[in-house]
Amino acid sequence: MRFDPAARATYDVAVFVRHLSLVDFRSYPEAEVALTPGITTFVGLNGQGKTNLVEAIGYLATLGSHRVSNDAPLVRAGAERAYVRAAVVREGHEQQLELEINPGRANRARLGRAASTRPRDILGTIRTVLFAPEDLALVKGDPSNRRQFLDELLVARQPKWAGARSDYDKILKQRNALLKSARTGHDRGALDATLPVWNEHLATVGANLTYARLRLLRDLRPYIAEAYDEVSAGQGDARLSYRSSLHVKLADELAAGEVPELDAITAGMHETFAEMRRAEVERGVTLVGPHRDEVQLQLGDLPAKGYASHGESWSFALGIRLAAFQLLRHDLGTDPVLVLDDVFAELDGGRRSRLAAMVADAEQVLITAAVADDVPVALSGRRFNVTRGHVAADGDEADAVDPGTVDRDSAEIEPVDPEPEPVQPEPVEPEPVEPGPPGPDADPASDPASDRASDRASDRAVGE
Ligand SMILES: Nc1ncnc2c1ncn2[C@@H]1O[C@H](COP(=O)(O)OP(=O)(O)O)[C@@H](O)[C@H]1O
Ligand SMILES: [Mg+2]
Repeated sequence: MRFDPAARATYDVAVFVRHLSLVDFRSYPEAEVALTPGITTFVGLNGQGKTNLVEAIGYLATLGSHRVSNDAPLVRAGAERAYVRAAVVREGHEQQLELEINPGRANRARLGRAASTRPRDILGTIRTVLFAPEDLALVKGDPSNRRQFLDELLVARQPKWAGARSDYDKILKQRNALLKSARTGHDRGALDATLPVWNEHLATVGANLTYARLRLLRDLRPYIAEAYDEVSAGQGDARLSYRSSLHVKLADELAAGEVPELDAITAGMHETFAEMRRAEVERGVTLVGPHRDEVQLQLGDLPAKGYASHGESWSFALGIRLAAFQLLRHDLGTDPVLVLDDVFAELDGGRRSRLAAMVADAEQVLITAAVADDVPVALSGRRFNVTRGHVAADGDEADAVDPGTVDRDSAEIEPVDPEPEPVQPEPVEPEPVEPGPPGPDADPASDPASDRASDRASDRAVGE
């Protein structure tokens, strides 16, 4: 992992959130929080609204929440919609970002002064890597957690994958509907006529997605091994291996870490459709494709799920997030905003200080903690006290805070600049070689967050 300062200087383009503004988001009727680069800690008792703040920033970056799979809980009880706004500074240029969250209807987004756009179009403006207690589900939870991790990282790396992901879900839905109607026996003719068409669509988009995931995994592996090694102080050998729903020959290659040509994956999907046709018709669902694939996490030769201890599982989850951070840092030349939500309380002293050493030089780190003393002094930076939805800058950064004595009047209220600087053009994505996924273009009104909902495990375990 090593956050080599010299290496960083050559890469780094500073991107950070300068201001966060909420309206009717979660517990906040309103909140205005002025932020700075470096480390910021939000301290407050449980239930005061710390996670709600960082969840809002995560939503701007991913169009999803790390806690819930649909938008309804994000809107303050009794309100109709929520607004999350941020001022994002990239290399000195500031850009305003706005999301209107309308549960049950399409969300809206705005970037700079432009008229409203599809939410998906703001992806990439701000990137986050967020580590939270919910991440234990990455190790212990069902495969959808790990698929979601991979696909979100794919999108963080190259936002165009949000479109491919959403196309895939739509095609899958249609193909499943067809298989289901064939199962009832009424529609065999339609199946023979139409299934090849859907096979073609699903194989094309599905192979692209699989190929992208494999390349991402290949790039991520060294960072995972390094991050786990560092977090656990050399206690193990963390590995990731892709478990594919494709036929055995190809699946074995993928499990071994090989990345076949895109054409070979597409052909493999068609071959597997043929093999699985009877089973798919019997069950009325699609059994082949990236939605059935899985990433197995291993410590040495044993799967982490079911074998790793609680501490090892935590280290693995943390290692995965730190690896994602490193990958994005090196890939994009900018640090994602690193969010550590309520994690220090869960870590022992050794892990705490190793984590602190690893993240101390990140461009912007947002930490939440119920107990200020749980956060290593190496990470003392700016501090806000969060009390019943009031976010107040703390005058004294070194002292422990008694939440009962917070001075509400010192709350940072800073209006968003009404005259933002000219809009910075979208940064050029550095990797031109990814084959663009063909297939039908997505419905512009569609909401990527709800598109993805099917892939989000609604039953993500919260801690243990
Ligand atoms: N949609 C909502 N409307 C009103 N209050 C909400 C909503 N969602 C969450 N809350 C409240 O927000 C609080 C939790 O905030 P959170 O940021 O998770 O706390 P913590 O400071 O422990 O991280 C709870 O009191 C919860 O009831
Ligand atoms: Mg919290």
